[in-house]
Amino acid sequence: MVVEPALTAPPLPRLHVVPQHVAIIMDGNGRWAQGRGLGRADGHRAGAETIRPVMERFGQHGVEVLTLFGFSTENWGRPRTEVQSILKLGRDFIDTHLDELDEAGVQLRHLGDLDRLPGFLRGRVEKAVERTSSNSKMVLNLAFNYGGRADIVEAVQQLIRDGVPPAEVTEEAIASRLATAGLSDPDLLIRTGGEARISNFLVWQATYAEYYFTDTLWPDFRAEQVDAALVEFSRRQRRFGLVPSGDDEDSLSAESGA
Ligand code: FPP
Repeated sequence: MVVEPALTAPPLPRLHVVPQHVAIIMDGNGRWAQGRGLGRADGHRAGAETIRPVMERFGQHGVEVLTLFGFSTENWGRPRTEVQSILKLGRDFIDTHLDELDEAGVQLRHLGDLDRLPGFLRGRVEKAVERTSSNSKMVLNLAFNYGGRADIVEAVQQLIRDGVPPAEVTEEAIASRLATAGLSDPDLLIRTGGEARISNFLVWQATYAEYYFTDTLWPDFRAEQVDAALVEFSRRQRRFGLVPSGDDEDSLSAESGA
């Protein structure tokens, strides 16, 4: 693991507002590798090595929850060798970092369907989730075999199994059955690699997230890029469908705008 030396990290900018929950679509590993004449698996490896220092920087800023899209339900359609390389990187990430993350008070959680994951990854994830479950310094959600729509479908199936009557099917009832139950929604969703879409990631939870798209390829994402994303976030005015404070006289609470 290539960990960025602390001495080369730029000074931490002071921000007046910091997102509590940041979600990241780590895109661009393939192009990063291609640009160096390497194979896609090398790109994913470099991408995996990017995670720890980036996480460190978000932690220094006070971000409490970090959610990473490691492998989507659609990624099964990639060539077998690439799928295997990504899943093994998930395993290696846990093997390499579990002790250190646990000592740092990080709670690891998994988002997605564990059942379809190979035993070598499923077992690691279960162990890591169990071992770190009472940690409270930071939450790291690893989304492996995750799809936003599948998350909602599973929540609805659970509602039905729980015998919830239609009148009690509320947003809260659904949210409490999603993979992110108990966590705040992402405030900031970052996608690297120059594409501007969310690709079935956290489709329910990211409704009011601020979106930040950058051309930087994921393996090139560093403390500077973390800072740039957070500075941009701190400049955004979040309105949640309301008008800027000070502009309203009185409001009908049930109404909302875009
Ligand atoms: C998208 O880049 C990236 C992925 C589908 C996999 C992301 C996986 C990792 C960073 C490593 C393992 C993850 C963890 C959490 C340990 P792409 O392949 O679509 O890139 P491209 O658009 O340049 O082809």
